[in-house]
Amino acid sequence: MTPKRNKPERRRVAAVVAVAADGAIGRGGALLCHLPADLKHFKQLTLGHSIVMGRRTFDSLPHGALPGRQNIVVTRNPHFAAPGVTVAHDIDAALAAATLPGEVMVIGGAQLYAATLDRVDTLYLTRLHATFPDADAHFPPIDPAQWEVADEEFHPADERNPCDYTFVTLCRKA
Ligand SMILES: NC(=O)c1ccc[n+]([C@@H]2O[C@H](COP(=O)([O-])OP(=O)(O)OC[C@H]3O[C@@H](n4cnc5c(N)ncnc54)[C@H](OP(=O)(O)O)[C@@H]3O)[C@@H](O)[C@H]2O)c1
Repeated sequence: MTPKRNKPERRRVAAVVAVAADGAIGRGGALLCHLPADLKHFKQLTLGHSIVMGRRTFDSLPHGALPGRQNIVVTRNPHFAAPGVTVAHDIDAALAAATLPGEVMVIGGAQLYAATLDRVDTLYLTRLHATFPDADAHFPPIDPAQWEVADEEFHPADERNPCDYTFVTLCRKA
């Protein structure tokens, strides 16, 4: 009898993104606006997880690798190295390199979201109720037929957060 091989379990993949009403996510290599409530939300979602990001997003981090998470940076540059970073040279290698339990979280930017959206099971969106016509980085279109809303929480702008925003969790329909 041939011994049964256990199939490796497919890791669940999530994407975390702050996306404006016009699909914008960034401009000039930076985020669209400073929204402290979203930074806090991002930290809560990603702490303890393996996070996957494009090299440009890594370059935009003010203090390098984000603490308390496995930082996996995707680049085609064979010489790229940075403290606290796991380097991967394609998307498959990036997802396979994740060592921490739970969802592997893709945290941007536009190229990485576009390259991984097909594999994403859960989308953690911060919908910014604003538009940014001068943005140069966008999230790929989300087909509403493929997703169901698992959670939704609206917050009005306040003295620290310049626009209204909604935290939305979308799960891919079976
Ligand atoms: N709103 C949000 O939630 C959010 C989140 C993250 C980022 N952002 C914004 O998004 C913008 C950056 O996005 P971006 O699209 O310009 O850059 P990106 O996706 O962060 O990084 C692109 C880089 O990743 C590498 N890469 C991409 N696909 C690859 C593949 N298939 N195989 C190997 N390497 C690959 C390449 O690096 P090399 O050039 O080194 O080869 C490429 O130049 C910034 O404005 C940032 O602030 C927004």
